[in-house]
Amino acid sequence: MPKSCGWTTKQFTADPWRPYYHIAAKTGLINDPNGFSFHQGRFQLFYQWNPFGCEHKNKHWGHFSSSDLIHWQAHPAALAPTDWFDKNGCYSGTAVSEGEILNLYYTGNVRQGEQRLSYQCKAVLHPDGHVEKLGPMNIEALSNYTGHVRDPKYLSWQDQSWLILGAQTLDQRGGICLLQQQQEQWLERRFISQEINLGRPQQAYMWECPDLFELDQQWLLLACPQGIELDQAEYTTTNLSGYFTVDMSAGPAELTINSEFNLLDHGFEFYAPQTLQHQGTTLLIGWLGLPDDGEHPSVRHNWTQMLGLPRSLSWENGCLRQRPIPAFKALAQAQQGDSYRSGEHQLKGFSRSCMLDIEFTECSAFQLSLPSADDSFSLHWSEGTLVVERGELGPLNSDTKRIYQSRNGNLRQLQLFIDSSSFELFVNDGEAVLSGRLFPQQAWHKGQFKLESGQAKLQLTQLSNSWIEEDLDA
Ligand code: FRU
Repeated sequence: MPKSCGWTTKQFTADPWRPYYHIAAKTGLINDPNGFSFHQGRFQLFYQWNPFGCEHKNKHWGHFSSSDLIHWQAHPAALAPTDWFDKNGCYSGTAVSEGEILNLYYTGNVRQGEQRLSYQCKAVLHPDGHVEKLGPMNIEALSNYTGHVRDPKYLSWQDQSWLILGAQTLDQRGGICLLQQQQEQWLERRFISQEINLGRPQQAYMWECPDLFELDQQWLLLACPQGIELDQAEYTTTNLSGYFTVDMSAGPAELTINSEFNLLDHGFEFYAPQTLQHQGTTLLIGWLGLPDDGEHPSVRHNWTQMLGLPRSLSWENGCLRQRPIPAFKALAQAQQGDSYRSGEHQLKGFSRSCMLDIEFTECSAFQLSLPSADDSFSLHWSEGTLVVERGELGPLNSDTKRIYQSRNGNLRQLQLFIDSSSFELFVNDGEAVLSGRLFPQQAWHKGQFKLESGQAKLQLTQLSNSWIEEDLDA
């Protein structure tokens, strides 16, 4: 039977970085969200998990479920790398509910000496909670690719079944490989790729974690291209997560990309997102981390990495909007607010788990800083540009600055979520999001707010803990 996954008050007191309302593993390493689905009346969320340590190995599919996307219940791991076809990792994939069962599509990662083999596998979660592995799917030999073919997204289109895979061609180009089911076999129908142009066109060497879905009559293709060097000096990561608009009017067999690549998140760490369409809404959840982003200080407490807040997506007037899911309001506790005119103001009441809402009227420039003895965080806006600064995370991730150019030069609204060791900043009602990790020993209690002109209404809301399970304290 599923167990509850609460953490104890003691764990929170001893560990300044454990999230209050974000998903993280109790122990070990967590990375991509997997199999985000709605099944048996609950949201199901699996995730890449090394239960034995904080390194990227032993990848299992951990499993949580929830009725509200905020309070999560832990279930036993759904997949463990115990078979010949997944012995070096049960890698990412998707889940599709079918009556009483949940079909899981994932990649079995296998190392043979220097060689990597990838098997696209299927497993079934039965109503009693037991998972039956069905092994590798019947796929025609994919001869144009290296061993990097993974992360199946299952797509049902009209009466056809498709798998969309992240892939690397033999000549080291990243893209997606589309397979269509024909009777008992899956046949390769397309390889699609495009240069990533975020300043200058570049070819990624691999695309990971693709997703393809329709959002308010616009089809979007999500992908995580690797090996893209951004010209801005602030970026050291070459792993990106973003989307293209695509023309799907003739179905996956004729799919064409018809936009440049757009970043999904303008912050520091965001990767491998997955969507779920449920009752007319499209939800997206991502990993607040990056491949190769180095060791985080929370390793001292035997856990590392976390997922982001679920977002709700919409396509409005040709633009993507990403908003925090309204369900987070269930966590709202004490609120305090005030209106400010130009000048310098001291703010109080920040905590490890809170949310700051700011509404601006004719603001030309502002600065918010949360100073601390061992880490600091600041936002700065002027001339249509938003700058987020933080301290260095470590030698493998020394990025400290992100810059976002607002779409029309205006700043109307910000919503900043803080949760112990993460922040997520939603700009202008979902026009953009900037996310990242932070590791302050001491929570920020005070802030400084400097407004150059106009007015601003600030509201700070404390958010309660969605993980504490007091009875484990005994
Ligand atoms: C993305 C990724 C996937 C892979 C998984 C392994 O972060 O590299 O492509 O399936 O992580 O954990």
